[in-house]
Amino acid sequence: MQNIEAYQKSFLSYLEGFTVNKEPKNLYEPINYILKLGGKRLRPVLTLMTSEVFDGSATEAMNAALSVEVFHNFSLIHDDIMDDAPLRRGKETVHEKWDLNTGILSGDAMLILAYQLFENYEPQIFRALAKLFSKTALEVCEGQQYDIDFETRDDVSIAEYLKMIEYKTAVLVGAAMKMGAIVAKASEEDQNLIYDFGRFLGVAFQLQDDYLDAFGNPETFGKQVGGDILENKKTYLYLKTLELGDDAEKSNLLEAMSSASIANEAKVEKVKALFNTSGAAEATQLAVKDYTQKAFSVLEKLNISDDKKQILQLFGEQLMNRRV
Ligand code: IPE
Ligand code: IPE
Ligand code: MG
Ligand code: MG
Ligand code: MG
Repeated sequence: MQNIEAYQKSFLSYLEGFTVNKEPKNLYEPINYILKLGGKRLRPVLTLMTSEVFDGSATEAMNAALSVEVFHNFSLIHDDIMDDAPLRRGKETVHEKWDLNTGILSGDAMLILAYQLFENYEPQIFRALAKLFSKTALEVCEGQQYDIDFETRDDVSIAEYLKMIEYKTAVLVGAAMKMGAIVAKASEEDQNLIYDFGRFLGVAFQLQDDYLDAFGNPETFGKQVGGDILENKKTYLYLKTLELGDDAEKSNLLEAMSSASIANEAKVEKVKALFNTSGAAEATQLAVKDYTQKAFSVLEKLNISDDKKQILQLFGEQLMNRRV
């Protein structure tokens, strides 16, 4: 096993060789742009790490890791269009730097490139990876559609929200890990356990993303702070304010969110204050911890050594405390 930085480093050097310098430029340049923009490389690191957790090699898992990262970056291009987001990783989003049509088609091409990377595997592994990928990618679409549908609904429940983030975000984290297990030819039981571990971590990860969308440091977070508030997203922060807030806090939230006369900055500040005073901000942090703990309890059932469990646990703890 290697440490997280070592996996990151070897992934980045592999990514370097993947650059597609082909024509037409307006199709491939945005692909290289988003892939080289940085990011935490969380999912590919998990694929590589999981392969070694199950005594496979990180090198063999490299194409699966790249596939997951290419898919993730495809989903970000389209997500930024859907969320009308100006910033990604501190830089202009693809549809801002180029235009909407470029974002759509470059994203489509990336989805295909991601799938194509599985051709590097022997038939049995290919089939298992492709099957998991198709299921996961479709669930991500379902999650993304729920997310958009919820913007214009006023009766979203916490349970619906949790299902939505499981689909749009957590299943890909689970799949990233399961792909590493597939390449390493781990038992089916271990494949499913590591998938669940990743899925719970993924829910915690999205809860933390919602928290940082409001309370992250604009200098380092890399996305427009308050973007979810401006897009009327039904986040955990929002839903918990309606659950925990007193009558005044609830009506102030509904009023601030629906008011067209209030300037963006004032709206974000007002809503953030309500997230805090209602106790929703704190409840969100507790939920992050809770889902991280759920992930850790899956670890206990895995048939791997204690020091490997510890490495996975450390990864989960770092994610829980992330600020970017
Ligand atoms: C952003 O994912 C989209 C979410 C699921 C929250 P990351 O926070 O992993 O994005 P990068 O790749 O590190 O930029
Ligand atoms: C992202 O959810 C989920 C996918 C990209 C599939 P968000 O919309 O919260 O992600 P960010 O905040 O834009 O990174
Ligand atoms: Mg978004
Ligand atoms: Mg979104
Ligand atoms: Mg977000």
